[in-house]
Amino acid sequence: MYAAAVEDLTYTVKEAGKDRTILNHISCFFEQGKIYTISGPSGSGKTTLLYAMAGLLDQVGGRVRIGETELLRERRRSRDRIRLEKIGMVFQNLNLFDFMNVEDNILIPYYLRKQRISMKVRRQVGEYLELLNLGQIQKKQISALSGGEQQRVAIIRAIVSAPQLILCDEPTASLDSKNVYIFMEALMKLQRESKSTIVIVTHDQRVFDYGDEKIRIVDGSLYQ
Ligand SMILES: Nc1ncnc2c1ncn2[C@@H]1O[C@H](COP(=O)(O)OP(=O)(O)O)[C@@H](O)[C@H]1O
Ligand SMILES: [Mg+2]
Repeated sequence: MYAAAVEDLTYTVKEAGKDRTILNHISCFFEQGKIYTISGPSGSGKTTLLYAMAGLLDQVGGRVRIGETELLRERRRSRDRIRLEKIGMVFQNLNLFDFMNVEDNILIPYYLRKQRISMKVRRQVGEYLELLNLGQIQKKQISALSGGEQQRVAIIRAIVSAPQLILCDEPTASLDSKNVYIFMEALMKLQRESKSTIVIVTHDQRVFDYGDEKIRIVDGSLYQ
């Protein structure tokens, strides 16, 4: 049983009246508790692949399975719910709310799930803030943070609830070596203790090397 899978995934867009294939019949199976790293040239379809896996794109051909669920068969509301419950995502553009503080940005998934913020969750958030060297700034607004600090906030938001599937899009683009190492250690702890499945798109060779499976993507095709 796979934690997640994409099967014959195809994504085509219209460009100047012509079809352009962004994802070209991609199949890949993701085992529970493994780290998958994906690298490839700019424009090769990495971000599109993660968006498709998260059920964020319409008109994708093929199948995306998250556990037992076939995501693309679900209606949008149901896809949103599944994503919220099972997937943690670090977006390439971070998608943080500038006008909210660090702590609230991290807790957004809990607010959306209408979940009470338990002491355990607060403690977990506090631990991650300390671990990623953000302990002093949890009440600061996002707009007042550096790029590297913002990236670490986005990371904590994606992993704090130990989701089944963690999708990271260039998560270390603005991190220094020390924070890259801390981030990867945190992911490996989740892998061991929560059996999370982790998919990381990265240009960073240090991060790529952490993959249990290392995958290349070129022009919308995967090479494993
Ligand atoms: N909705 C869209 N409409 C048109 N082109 C798109 C769309 N989404 C992605 N693309 C194009 O698909 C290609 C792959 O994009 P992307 O997945 O962001 O690449 P990567 O993350 O590997 O740099 C790019 O050439 C991009 O311009
Ligand atoms: Mg990208």
